[in-house]
Amino acid sequence: MRKNIVAGNWKMNNDLVQTESLISNLKNQTTTSNAEVMVAPAFTNLYQAKQALESSNVEVIAQNMHFAENGAYTGEISASMLKSVGIKTVILGHSERREYFNETDETLAKKVDAALANNLRVIFCFGEVLADRKSNNQEAVVESQISNALFHLKADAFKNIVLAYEPVWAIGTGETASPEQAQDMHAFIRKTLAAKYGSDVADNMSILYGGSCKPGNAKEIFSKPDVDGGLIGGAALNADDFFAIVNAF
Ligand code: G3P
Repeated sequence: MRKNIVAGNWKMNNDLVQTESLISNLKNQTTTSNAEVMVAPAFTNLYQAKQALESSNVEVIAQNMHFAENGAYTGEISASMLKSVGIKTVILGHSERREYFNETDETLAKKVDAALANNLRVIFCFGEVLADRKSNNQEAVVESQISNALFHLKADAFKNIVLAYEPVWAIGTGETASPEQAQDMHAFIRKTLAAKYGSDVADNMSILYGGSCKPGNAKEIFSKPDVDGGLIGGAALNADDFFAIVNAF
C-alpha cells in the first residue's frame, strides 16, 4: 500500500552510547506527519535501538543483510538474525554497498529473494552516477538496476517492497536533485513498473527520494506527486533535523 515514509540511514555512525543519546532525542520529538518513520542503526546497535523505540512510532530497520540463511560468511548477517531481534524491514542495494562492496544486480536479486522469503519488507535502493546524469542516461541506468534485481518477482511481491531513488551524485554531497529531477525520475519509475506489472502495483508503490535531503528542501521535494518520502543520511544523525524532514509532510 502506497504511504509516506521517512527513513534515516545512519550508515557507519554512532556507537552504543551515541545511539542511545540520539534515540533519546528522537523520542522527545513530536510530529503531526502522516509519514511512517524509520531509523537504520548499525548492526551492533539494532537490539538496543529496537528495545528503546518499542513503544514509539519509529520503526528500527537494518541497513543490509546477506542472502544466505546461514554459513561460512564471516562478518555477515542473515535475515533470520535480523528477525530474531525484531527487525521487519531491511535496506538493500544502497549505492555504497554497490560501490565499496561490489554488490551486483545479481547479488541484490538474491538478497531481495531472501528478505521476501523471510517476510521482511525491502527498501530497494538504486540511482545513477554523475557521468550517467551528464550524458542523460539516468533512465536507462535506473531501469536496468530495477529490472535486473526485481523483475523476476511476481506482482504480489511488490506489496513488501519500497523503492528508493538515490542519485549517487547527490548522496552526501549537498548537491540535491531538484524537485523536478526527482519527480521526473519517480514518474519514470512508476511508469516502468506499470508497464511490467500494471497500474495496481505502480500506483501502490512508495517511491522515496534520497540524496542530500535536508530540512530546507524536503517540503518541496515531498510535495511532488510521485515522491512518497525520503531516505535520509546525514540529516538523520540529528533528531531535530530528521523530524523537521518527517514534518515536511
Ligand atoms: O541512504 C540515504 C543516503 O544515501 C543519503 O545520504 O547524507 O545525502 O542524506 P545524504
